[in-house]
Amino acid sequence: MNDIATLTKDLDLARIPAHVAIIMDGNGRWARQRAMMRSEGHAEGVNSVNRITRFSSDLGIKYLTLYAFSTENWKRPQAEVDALMHLIGWTIRKETPDLVKNNVKIHLLGEIERLPESVRQDLEAGREATEHCTGLNLNICLSYSSRWELTNAARKLAEKVKRGELSPEDITEESIQAELSTADIPDPDLLIRTGGEERISNFLLWQCAYSELYFTPVLWPDFDNEAFVEALRSFQNRERRFGMTSDQVKANDNPHNTID
Ligand code: FPP
Repeated sequence: MNDIATLTKDLDLARIPAHVAIIMDGNGRWARQRAMMRSEGHAEGVNSVNRITRFSSDLGIKYLTLYAFSTENWKRPQAEVDALMHLIGWTIRKETPDLVKNNVKIHLLGEIERLPESVRQDLEAGREATEHCTGLNLNICLSYSSRWELTNAARKLAEKVKRGELSPEDITEESIQAELSTADIPDPDLLIRTGGEERISNFLLWQCAYSELYFTPVLWPDFDNEAFVEALRSFQNRERRFGMTSDQVKANDNPHNTID
């Protein structure tokens, strides 16, 4: 196993992205390749969650956002949904002491009220226990979808207009942003999707307007620190222009490329 210094020797540690978001795909295929049950693939996926969270924290990444369960995932077979819910609650219970030790703060994004009561209790306990932490912000998206989030934001703004607190002309990008579940979180610099598919699947559509996208065939349970470094290396080799010309970006020494 490589240590962090060896693994990151080709990386510019001053230009680590502040916010990395991940679509964790490929647990089912990982299990099928081994004639295992899909739920065993998800259980193995949890090891990747733990590893990547720890590594992100060690690298000084400020925000790690994980797509753990989408609104559309409720359509999966009930047995798989139940197994996933159980796994998520169990993982949070088991990992909270380590998260506290590593100064990782849990944030929950999505329609959490749709989750079973016992899982909500586990999540809330984890959130509360890590509330004081000041290191990595771990955003766990559960029963989340961008269209749900944007619909919600539109409804909240419409209610404000109806109550006379806001006029339609005052609706700005900022007022929409303020109603999103990521209101206080900077946009992702890098969005990674594992498992070989190249789509965004209703994840952070607003927030990823200028994120760098990275797709890898590596299945989520196999996504190790080396694979993560590869994604970071790809990120560091890109020029983020935010609509400007390359010459402008060079002249500005674009601040969005780095943590700060
Ligand atoms: C996608 O793989 C993965 C999921 C729908 C679930 C991911 C959830 C975890 C790894 C648990 C996370 C737990 C916490 C506490 C953050 P897939 O089943 O779609 O794989 P396939 O495309 O190969 O079938």
